[in-house]
Amino acid sequence: METLEQLLRGRLARAFAEVGGGIADPVVQRSQRADFQANGALPLAKRLGVAPREVAERVLAVAELEGLIATAEVSGPGFINLTVDDAVLGRMIGAVNADARLGVPVAAEPETVVVDYSAPNVAKEMHVGHLRSTVIGDAVVRTLEWVGHRVIRRNHLGDWGTPFGMLIEHLADIGEAEAVRELSVGDLSGFYTAARKKFDADDEFKERARRRVVALQGGDETTIRWWRLLVGESKRYFGTVYERLGVRLTDADFVGESAYNEELGSVVEDLDRLGLIQVSDGAQCVFPAGFTGRDGTPLPLIVRKSDGGFGYAATDLAAIRDRVGELAATRLLYVVGSPQQQHFAMVFATARAAGWLADPARAEHIGFGSVLGADGKVLRSRAGGTIKLVELLEEARQRAAVVVAEKNPALSAEEQARVATQVGIGAVKYADLSTDRTRDYVFDFDRMLALEGNTGPYLQYANARIQSIFRKSGGEPVRDGAPVVVAAAAERALAIELLAFPEVVAEVADSLAFHRLAAYLFGVASAFASFYEQCPILKAPDPAVRASRLVLTDLTGRTLCAGLGMLGIGAPDRM
Ligand code: ARG
Repeated sequence: METLEQLLRGRLARAFAEVGGGIADPVVQRSQRADFQANGALPLAKRLGVAPREVAERVLAVAELEGLIATAEVSGPGFINLTVDDAVLGRMIGAVNADARLGVPVAAEPETVVVDYSAPNVAKEMHVGHLRSTVIGDAVVRTLEWVGHRVIRRNHLGDWGTPFGMLIEHLADIGEAEAVRELSVGDLSGFYTAARKKFDADDEFKERARRRVVALQGGDETTIRWWRLLVGESKRYFGTVYERLGVRLTDADFVGESAYNEELGSVVEDLDRLGLIQVSDGAQCVFPAGFTGRDGTPLPLIVRKSDGGFGYAATDLAAIRDRVGELAATRLLYVVGSPQQQHFAMVFATARAAGWLADPARAEHIGFGSVLGADGKVLRSRAGGTIKLVELLEEARQRAAVVVAEKNPALSAEEQARVATQVGIGAVKYADLSTDRTRDYVFDFDRMLALEGNTGPYLQYANARIQSIFRKSGGEPVRDGAPVVVAAAAERALAIELLAFPEVVAEVADSLAFHRLAAYLFGVASAFASFYEQCPILKAPDPAVRASRLVLTDLTGRTLCAGLGMLGIGAPDRM
């Protein structure tokens, strides 16, 4: 099924090619002045040495517009304003509404994609950065699956390394039972902080912790058992957070850093054999081309520290080999905060130099900014410590419950609770996903829970209103593909908005810039609001118009649900 924009571009491309004597991009885009505008006459005019308006006139003289465009006129310096034929809109809306995929094609070349996201650290509270990674990663997974790719989730849990010396030693001090008690109630930061305090203050403890690291690496039985206990309890706790968030991360997706332990030795050996290793201050390093410090000296990527321990980078290199070599992935995505941008750039460059990351396989760091408090500083709890993720989510849910109870007191208590969860969690996710992920954003409950503006609740409410129209209509939605009537200005605007869904999904599946999908959904909901205000639906006098408006309404609801679904946000039927 060709999209409206593709149809327009195709027709105009032929005319532009004829006038230009070769391929010339018509540059079709949405327009304020008409439905669409083609701006390609301006660059083409430069090439031909003819006035742009003249080029635009020539294009219109040869363009075949029948059956697609109702009016086309040259405006301004040489733009071509295009108004789509109402009948075309009506036919396309009918067809898209009959399509379960809403006009979105299945990827022509499905890929295996590995998404590395969430990745909290054992025995350490998840912070808001992990929230962002989890929420964005979940949207990546859902969107790419929707488009038809094979998606493998990887929760690169921080479950190995020197901090385990102090964590296990602290466990030894307080005893297994107490450790389990603390961790099972989710008091990860209490546990971690106590260990850290001793480590910083007590040299004897520090020495024990150091020996414990050696015992862990050496596979000492008791040490391994305690390590497993820490990992197991932490995973269980993280699982409860994922459940609360409604993200698609399961136990099977945990493939922590320790999973690559066996590979680390050969990673360094292979790099050495390839001549990529240089020893610097006793550490084995790679100096990937193009990375220099402020003073111009080459920057090292440390793969093996001077004490023999392997670094974070070695694990990421082993993971790339596994993901490309064993999992046969061609797209590797890393949803990790922007401060790690350089780490990933250096790891990817090293993997390419080693031949582990080669065409068609490629890796992308999906970076993101920080979450800020109202004071513009990194979000902290009222006491000034790191904020506990579950508490944040619980507060969102409670505040949403107040909004829902106000909005719809008729709902049963059970339904109110269910809706409040969807609204509260959805609001948090939407606030995150609707801002350009590379930027910081301010965490503001009042703003994210507002029923007006570009918020999750606003979109959910638009859908709930649509569902209530169908409840009142006394009939099932009709999805038979028959053309509908699209005539009034608000109907046309909504139809054109809805027909753009496939383009937006394709663009977002590529850029993973979810704020564009969010902005699109907000545009759909806004177009629907104007339509709802200006065009009576159930009370439309002409039965054909009533039926058509119900199709537009139905398609709006499905588009909102599909889009919110890609963002990992539920859409309740009532609110
Ligand atoms: N555990 C790390 C952190 O909390 C994030 C890991 C990201 N993924 C990766 N493959 N390095 O900062």
